[in-house]
Amino acid sequence: MGQYQRIVILTGAGVSAESGIATFRDAGGLWENHDPMEIATPEAFARDPGLVYRFYNARREQLRNVDANPGHRAIARLQREFAGEVFLVTQNVDDLHERGGSEQVCHMHGELRAALCLHCGARHRTESSFDHATPCPDCAVSGGLRPDIVWFGEMPYHMQEIDVHLARCDLFISVGTSGQVYPAAGFVREALAAGADTIEINKDTSGVSTWFHQQRQGPSGELLPRLVEEILGAGA
Ligand code: APR
Repeated sequence: MGQYQRIVILTGAGVSAESGIATFRDAGGLWENHDPMEIATPEAFARDPGLVYRFYNARREQLRNVDANPGHRAIARLQREFAGEVFLVTQNVDDLHERGGSEQVCHMHGELRAALCLHCGARHRTESSFDHATPCPDCAVSGGLRPDIVWFGEMPYHMQEIDVHLARCDLFISVGTSGQVYPAAGFVREALAAGADTIEINKDTSGVSTWFHQQRQGPSGELLPRLVEEILGAGA
């Protein structure tokens, strides 16, 4: 394991799987007879907002019954103890990185425990259910609150900041993501262009596995603590 200064970690649904949150593409499950992929779109929200509110309210509710796992905690440990920089970007909308101890988490696909008002543009932290009838705490208008989630066809958050970190990283680690959804699936190539070493952790292969210098196959709850130990050991 080489010595590094600037690490970027990208996580996907797989890192939260061992906490009991179903992933998107290998769950094979339907939700109230709907494919979740067909709910996560602006078109679905326009067509049937009640369905979309119910889906995200249920997922927000589920967060009360799950907790961070050793994978989340290993990343937080690296962020605390590594002498250089560790930038964490997640596609996950849960808050398990924060609950695992991470103080810096870049949520490029938004957050379940947040609402966005389409009238005034304000964002609100919330652990409660909300829907069409819920007034915005800022502008008091009802009918404008939507889940603060980046849906298919929408622009991910924080792209400029992410690109800056990718352009100067010397180690890129991707964990538990299927490499099917861009722009995140393309981050490995940006890191390679910056000359970084690249490591993938996944219980399977992903759509972009061949781009990585190293593939470590297995559960992130086991492999991440091991990798963090190696990185911290190499820097000692
Ligand atoms: N350890 C490591 N990897 C795992 C584990 C585990 N315990 N469990 C599952 N995986 C891997 C799977 O092999 C798969 O490659 O995690 C990946 C999960 O893939 P997806 O379900 O496609 O999730 P993700 O890549 O995060 O999806 C990206 O798509 O649906 C949209 O916006 C949503 O953020 C999401 C984006």
